Amino acid sequence: MCGIVGYLGNKNAFPILLNGLKRLEYRGYDSTGIALIENGKIDVHKKEGKVRELEQITENQSFKSTIGIGHTRWATHGEPNDVNAHPHVSNSGNLAIIHNGIIENYGSLKKDLIQRGYTFESDTDTEVFVNFIEDIKKSENLSLEDALRIALTKVIGAYAIAIISMDTPNKLVAARKGSPLVLGLGKDEFYLASDATPIIEHTNEVIYLKDEEIVVMENGEYHIKDSRDIPQTPYIQTLELELEAIEKGGHDHFMHKEIFEQPISIADCMRGRLNAEKGELTLGGIRNYAKALQNAERIVIIACGTSWHAGLVAEYIFEDLCRIPVEVEYASEFRYRNPVINEGDIVIAISQSGETADTLAAIELAKSKGAIVLGVVNTVGSSISRVSHEGAYLHAGPEIGVASTKAFTAQLTVLFMIALKAAKNKGTIAENRFQQLLRELSLIPSKVEKALQSNDKIEEISDMFKNASNFLYLGRGYNFPVALEGALKLKEISYIHAEGYPAAEMKHGPIALIDENMPVVVIATRDSSYDKIVSNIQEVKARKGVVIAVVTEGDSLIPGMADFTIEVPSTHESLMPLVSVIPLQLLSYHIAVMRGANVDQPRNLAKSVTVE
Ligand code: F6R
Repeated sequence: MCGIVGYLGNKNAFPILLNGLKRLEYRGYDSTGIALIENGKIDVHKKEGKVRELEQITENQSFKSTIGIGHTRWATHGEPNDVNAHPHVSNSGNLAIIHNGIIENYGSLKKDLIQRGYTFESDTDTEVFVNFIEDIKKSENLSLEDALRIALTKVIGAYAIAIISMDTPNKLVAARKGSPLVLGLGKDEFYLASDATPIIEHTNEVIYLKDEEIVVMENGEYHIKDSRDIPQTPYIQTLELELEAIEKGGHDHFMHKEIFEQPISIADCMRGRLNAEKGELTLGGIRNYAKALQNAERIVIIACGTSWHAGLVAEYIFEDLCRIPVEVEYASEFRYRNPVINEGDIVIAISQSGETADTLAAIELAKSKGAIVLGVVNTVGSSISRVSHEGAYLHAGPEIGVASTKAFTAQLTVLFMIALKAAKNKGTIAENRFQQLLRELSLIPSKVEKALQSNDKIEEISDMFKNASNFLYLGRGYNFPVALEGALKLKEISYIHAEGYPAAEMKHGPIALIDENMPVVVIATRDSSYDKIVSNIQEVKARKGVVIAVVTEGDSLIPGMADFTIEVPSTHESLMPLVSVIPLQLLSYHIAVMRGANVDQPRNLAKSVTVE
């Protein structure tokens, strides 16, 4: 949440920062701001709203500064408005800061600073933070980095920050703890950003800063030290990310692009891992813990949101294939109770961003109790990938639309491969079944491609339901988590209330909601609970509910009962979520577009939830 950028070099900083903020806007879009050092002074431009509002208020100005910082905000302390927008400047006007994270003890720091004569314009913790640094700097006559280092030992919370100072107009200082920060290394120039997307068009040499590291950039050099002032040797990574992967490429929205990319992103997930012809499956990322996984007495899956839904599907897969009991936990709940974790338990943490604060905290808790943590993460170099013992990347490419689509199907693919491999190692799957599932998995990209061909029909159905106030999604077995995911997609981008339910549970309560105004999306593909879900459709129809059914190609029974049917290709039931979720993604996308909602940046949300 919140995106931060910084630049120091010999180019005009403003357009670099503005462009960087556009790339990071998915992380927060309540307000935006940039601070430069222009003519020896800190020059701040900030505005409530999206980056384009900032662009508009600055379009007739020319900037020459070669140093600056920028921020796009997801509000935590104080409502989104011009005053609360970052950057924040210290009382003397000497320091400007941008901050992603939360300073938990800002209240007591603020009280203290007020007593010492400081005044505050905004409601933010960040304005307190910058004045706290200034106070230490002035009272002890310290350099910016030394004052920052001392300040950081006294603040409680999470941060990725960058600071500039009028006193030292050629110096950029940054630090992180709990929130991500990437340093890009150009020729005599430096880029800072919350993730690599604003950096890759300038350089592909990056350093992912570690927690409690402070970097000082000055005179074409950079130095990284830890919180005890001990120099650190950084690991410079060469990124392979292509610019086109983070652009819309002719699509109206990132979400549309990412939905239609799925045949490729799923294939990318399997590339180099699955060879159906040779009947081989290799997962290099979890080689060292493969034995621990196959021998585990228990697997605990922790995740949030869509990633949690992928975890629910994985529960069914692991239990079926590996015969290992699995529990799927919301990371936010797991970490606030006293969970029973035994030495050697396997914890699988699933996260697209790799930065979700609750998931990170749950991992730390699990590790402290002796669990082995395997990360299933999309963003290379992210915090979760680094704190996990081992893991498997999704390789789905950057997901920029706030509603997760291609990451979900990539998560299912990777989790399926992990389970299949563990089952093979453990001997809980017969060779012919293993080979059959491998082959079936390798066909998923083409089946997803086929499922996407229903797009026009789904658009027509969307038009009929775009004004609905409620939706119910029903599924059984492997399709139950898909029902949850379909409902989440609809509510988050179209703001229509939607609930996902296991179809059989309907009679225990939600059936009371059903009347002629209630669209009910039933995922009724041909599987072991097909007959049961057919009965559930009849129960809905008997109460005049309107049924939109997702069925297996060639189904001749359900089309005679449902009001609308959408066909998907047939596959093994454990792989069906990869295919049956596609129409639900499209349905939510079209309804949201028709309602005029901002599909890629839904209200109140942000892509990377780095607050607890
Ligand atoms: C929904 C969505 C969120 C995320 C959740 C976890 O479309 O994107 O529910 O799935 O915030 O995020 P990650 O996977 O980055 O940990």
